[in-house]
Amino acid sequence: MDSMSFTLFGATGDLAKRKIYPALFNLYMDKKLPTIFSIIGVGKEKMSEKEFQSMVIESLYEFSRHSTNDKALKLEFVQSISYISLDLTNKSSYSLLLQYVKQKELEKGINENRIFYLSVPPAFFEVITTNIKNSGLGHTKGWKRVIIEKPFGHDLASATHLNNMVKQAFFEDEIFRMDHYLGKPMVQNLETLISANPVLQSIWNNKLIANVQITASETVGVGGRAAYYEQAGAIRDMVQNHMLQLVLMSALRMSEKDSVVSLRNEKIKLMEAIQRIHTEKDIIRGQYRHLKTGDTTYTNGYLEEPGVNPSSTTDTFVAARLFINTPSWKGVPFFIRTGKRLARKETKIVVEFKNIRNETKAVEERRPNLLVITIQPDEGVSLHLNSKNPLTGEIEPIDVHFSSSNREIPEAYEYLLADAIKGNADFFTHWDEVELAWKWIQPVLEAFDNNQIPLHLYESGTNGPEASDQLLKKDGFHWW
Ligand code: BG6
Repeated sequence: MDSMSFTLFGATGDLAKRKIYPALFNLYMDKKLPTIFSIIGVGKEKMSEKEFQSMVIESLYEFSRHSTNDKALKLEFVQSISYISLDLTNKSSYSLLLQYVKQKELEKGINENRIFYLSVPPAFFEVITTNIKNSGLGHTKGWKRVIIEKPFGHDLASATHLNNMVKQAFFEDEIFRMDHYLGKPMVQNLETLISANPVLQSIWNNKLIANVQITASETVGVGGRAAYYEQAGAIRDMVQNHMLQLVLMSALRMSEKDSVVSLRNEKIKLMEAIQRIHTEKDIIRGQYRHLKTGDTTYTNGYLEEPGVNPSSTTDTFVAARLFINTPSWKGVPFFIRTGKRLARKETKIVVEFKNIRNETKAVEERRPNLLVITIQPDEGVSLHLNSKNPLTGEIEPIDVHFSSSNREIPEAYEYLLADAIKGNADFFTHWDEVELAWKWIQPVLEAFDNNQIPLHLYESGTNGPEASDQLLKKDGFHWW
């Protein structure tokens, strides 16, 4: 691997501590980092290099999946990490940063290959990328790349503006837009699962599939993120990016001969084919209420959360029905739902197959075959088949289950960072995808903003509002 310097903007932030340092350390432990590298943290807090390195070590103890008995290795790892405190809004900071990066490159013999990771609020994207260009940080003898965290824009116009800014400093193939759901091992596995198994590939279409249900539920509330969440809601926070990516990854039908290079192109084609949503009848929005029994309040309602406007109509739950207008998927509803403060933390895709023999039976009596792909917390694939019980002679569902919960599986950030370091953009979102996703969701955002869609309150700890069940009932289905 090429030697490189990895400049992390937002080096003292929460994401850096929870995800980025642990992922880099795990890659280091697994020998997936270049032999020569320099990680440069940039933040506004004043702290010495020693203090910064101790902060990184602490984050490794807390969040790294590697054992805690490797103190020496942690110390060795942080020798390649340094810190510089800068005001990111000040142009002259970037000349200082350039000198600093060059000095480290010289000391270590790094060939001016540079990754810039923007782990900062979106308001900083423009000033950072413009100054990377103007200061000369972006003029390298080697390669350069930028990794950008979501949210990539607030709506179509702001995302387009942001993209134009970033493009002044980087070419599309140098931009790595992060959607951490694409780094989850089971999401990366989806395409292989279908393309490497002819048995699944041959049934992955509207002839045999009745509907696809994608759920990403969380038990946590908005926590301390009200300032961001009030502007975003579940629709921008989860649906525009993670949920749509799950839809695209589930609908991919690549054959083994297709090269992985075309994965992003295939996803772009699918995104183009997602039909405009009929907002009133195809989308449900909800907001969590408190959980209270008698006088005991177990959790706040959204409106009682610190920093939330007490009359806020921000959505903390969204369910939707969408269709993909391709010959393979025409007519198959994809149901998605995501929300905070729900009954469990779980992300799964359920593919319900048609059961022609039983179609006339009541919904509860139909026993369709199901393929359940669990993305988290425990990865697994199970197939629900029908079989005759030898004792009673009744047909009963049986499960064929594969689970990988016992293995030490790397975290999403490890896969994605390793890919970005290698220059592999398959599991990062191309601008065309992001733009199409914003275009698709824009009418929904407007309908939400104008309160054209009813806001259903749901009790914390449930599966969301009753209206989300009705969404499927109309088509004769129910959530599995
Ligand atoms: C983030 C959202 O992108 O994804 C959070 O901003 C959400 O609100 C999180 O909690 C969920 O990610 P995961 O990996 O825990 O499912």
